[in-house]
Amino acid sequence: MSDIILPIDLQNHRYDVMIGIDILARAGEFIKPFTPRNRSFIVTDETVARLHLSTLKEALAKVDVQAEVLILPSGEATKNITQLEKILSKLIDAKIERTDAIIAFGGGVIGDITGFAAAILRRGTHFIQIPTTLLAQVDSSVGGKTAINMTQGKNLIGAFHQPALVLADITLLGTLPPRELRAGYAEILKYGLINDPGFFKWCVENGADILASDKNAQRYGVAQSVAAKAAIVAQDPTETNGTRALLNLGHTFGHALEAELGYSDRLLHGEAVSIGMMLAFDFSVQCGFCSVNDAHKLRAHLTELSMPTDFRTLTNADGATLVAHMMQDKKRQSGTLPFLLARGIGQTYLDKNVDLEKITAFLNGEHP
Ligand code: NAD
Ligand code: GLY
Repeated sequence: MSDIILPIDLQNHRYDVMIGIDILARAGEFIKPFTPRNRSFIVTDETVARLHLSTLKEALAKVDVQAEVLILPSGEATKNITQLEKILSKLIDAKIERTDAIIAFGGGVIGDITGFAAAILRRGTHFIQIPTTLLAQVDSSVGGKTAINMTQGKNLIGAFHQPALVLADITLLGTLPPRELRAGYAEILKYGLINDPGFFKWCVENGADILASDKNAQRYGVAQSVAAKAAIVAQDPTETNGTRALLNLGHTFGHALEAELGYSDRLLHGEAVSIGMMLAFDFSVQCGFCSVNDAHKLRAHLTELSMPTDFRTLTNADGATLVAHMMQDKKRQSGTLPFLLARGIGQTYLDKNVDLEKITAFLNGEHP
């Protein structure tokens, strides 16, 4: 199976996303052109280090690229200002320069925090993404959003900083726990729900294969997702004209739930997105924008794959509490929040006039 190379074409920056089998073992040859001094610095987490770090180190050694390594604890709690300071301090101690390769080797947590460190180190340093989770391969490693969380909310401190290269090795998904695969799958399904009913249909037919670790299905699902994201990001790299905001389908609801549950492993980001997308469809139905049938199709597919759809099994938080979390959202403007709603499957749109009292009542289970 040959590698798929998808270019991300932005006005002032272009880079490739390579998707394939056993890319990690060949990573040296792809990274070498990005290390003029043959120096790299790998940031990873404990789980990824245990499973896959030796392969990456061997690949870099083969092409004489020196690699220093920082291993952080696994999980969302790492995406904080203390760990950011640690990364920056180690990079400075290692005298990493702007054109050396900082390698983010892990899931979205490692990608987001390392990308942010690269964005602010020496006012911007090159970095390479090697995403190791399904979620990171289909979403977080592409498009240049980098961030850390604050106790007040998710991703509140961050920057747009595009990678120089993304290497997505489908083989790495083989060690991912089923729960993490399902969480990543939510972000794949999102692309069908946003603007591609044909891809949603493909997901309904092939989603179970992705979760059963079928490499062909995973490779196709990752490639279609990256292509969909690339098309959206190219139109709106810094989320200013409303196009990129479409990628946040389910995220306003989802982030509120993640905040309520303390960014813990009680609710993974992708699980929050799964519930959030269902809430966006249900709310759209309640407002009369979307047919019950389309919401039913989404619920049936999520349920068939054991994806979460209902936040009531996780928390008793009421609508006002969840809306209070939403008001810390980055997308907040003049005291209100734009919401991603749906006119149907493949027809997501940004609604800037949603009444937050209506959202509160909806989350409380009240029907008008
Ligand atoms: P994660 O990075 O915490 O990884 C999930 C778990 O899987 C961790 O325990 C990790 O150690 C483990 N893991 C990683 N690769 C593995 C492998 N190959 N085999 C076995 N275990 C492995 O979480 P995630 O779901 O990848 O990313 C979630 C984060 O991404 C959130 O912080 C979210 O906000 C962020 N995100 C960012 C963007 C963006 O555009 N920047 C988009 C979506 C999500
Ligand atoms: N994950 C949303 C974005 O990249 O814009």
